[in-house]
Amino acid sequence: MNPGKSSHRPLSDTTRLGLIGLGTVGGGVAEILAKHQDLIVARSGASMEIVRAAVRDVDRVREGAAHHVRLTTKIEDIVSAPDVDIVVELMGGVDAAYKHIRRALENGKPVVTANKAVLAQHGPELYAIAAAHGVDVYFEAAVAGGIPIIRTMREGLAADRITAVRGILNGTTNFVLGLMGEGQSYGEALAEAQRRGYAESDPTIDVNGRDAADKLTILAHLAYGVEVRPQDFPVVGIESLTPEVLRDAHDLGFAVKLLGIAKRVGSSRAMRLDLRVHPTFVPLEHQLASVPGAQNAISVVSDALGQTLYQGPGAGGMPTGSAVVSDLIEAARSLRLGVSGRVKASRKAAMALVDPADARACFYLRFLVDDKPGVLAAITRILADHKISLETVLQRSRCKIDGDVPLLLVTHETTQGAVDAAIQEVKKLRTVRNGHHHVPIMEVM
Ligand code: NAP
Ligand code: HSE
Repeated sequence: MNPGKSSHRPLSDTTRLGLIGLGTVGGGVAEILAKHQDLIVARSGASMEIVRAAVRDVDRVREGAAHHVRLTTKIEDIVSAPDVDIVVELMGGVDAAYKHIRRALENGKPVVTANKAVLAQHGPELYAIAAAHGVDVYFEAAVAGGIPIIRTMREGLAADRITAVRGILNGTTNFVLGLMGEGQSYGEALAEAQRRGYAESDPTIDVNGRDAADKLTILAHLAYGVEVRPQDFPVVGIESLTPEVLRDAHDLGFAVKLLGIAKRVGSSRAMRLDLRVHPTFVPLEHQLASVPGAQNAISVVSDALGQTLYQGPGAGGMPTGSAVVSDLIEAARSLRLGVSGRVKASRKAAMALVDPADARACFYLRFLVDDKPGVLAAITRILADHKISLETVLQRSRCKIDGDVPLLLVTHETTQGAVDAAIQEVKKLRTVRNGHHHVPIMEVM
């Protein structure tokens, strides 16, 4: 993408916005535009006005500033309208959103989007279409809600080589894990996250790790230039975590967080990228362990800077709306200057992914076993056969369930493949009950 003259320049003193979607995030955008108009004029050089918003249901009464927005069901009246300078895609989903973003770009309109799902599937293609039409795609709100991590990665860290990005990238799951740790049920906690506007319209995408994987895909592209998709790497959600696992974690000195991990491994000749999303035991002394509620946090390790942490509200209408409006201000500035392509999306790089079976970590393992002599010896023998050595063994005799006791093990560093193979053998022992758990432990870098 070469910096160039934008083909589209508003002549009026108002930047005219067309929204596709006026739900949780769209409502936040309308609110911020209404409250911060003076700042927006000062910072972008023009006032900003929502010309109209496309929604599914034009008859539903909207609250707050959204109440005053003109509604339509015709998305063509946004993406092709001569009176719209910038298109703001806040409808979610992949296929329809892709089609509308593409159409807006082909019509020479810059697009601001909060939609990580569409960018995880089609990001590089959309950035190329934008460049070909002399406009930009802005997506600060797509990763980590209100935290300005996209600008940080593209501009603040532009001089540095990134070693690892590890982050709590989903507010809903962090909120749910926090409430479960306080004794609430999984179902109650998730319902509360939905009520507060943190969850996706289909919250399965939050709890199964898919939303975090979409965001990790975008970050990996910015950090390393790789064009991967979420279906290319392992993704595990929080659905199978139990209160017992959270309690074990705490007793062993960890907090459980759903982490997205993108890490360079190997020598410069055979550099690979380890990409994964899964619940992780985070040492309590690490900053990521204490990130509360629906907050997100991203730890970046880079050659020159070392470790930096970016933390803040990761979901909800106002934090996400703030990121969208920051993009709108940037887009309006570019429109007024008649420029595009100022910041390159990323330099394309080919880097092979680490085979999931070869991914290295220490692990927490939990088995429910007969309270009999010899059981522990049988399990540790299987682990030794797979070259897995142990750091901690803990039998919780006071937590008996129908005569069975939980056995907790913490391993030294090993591979995911060795752990999977050992678990398959342990499960065949007659003294071991159904319902084991295993969770990787975060490496302290
Ligand atoms: P939402 O509350 O469900 O709002 C979606 C909006 O899109 C609604 O106004 C809906 O219309 C409209 N819409 C959906 N399908 C449409 C269609 N086919 N035609 C016209 N309008 C359509 O969702 P949201 O939470 O605001 O999320 C929007 C986007 O932001 C998603 O990509 C999401 O992943 C992303 N995001 C959300 C958050 C968050 O905290 N919520 C944070 C970061 C990013 P109706 O109002 O008539 O139903
Ligand atoms: N559902 C998402 C989350 C919204 O909980 O993080 C922010 O992207």
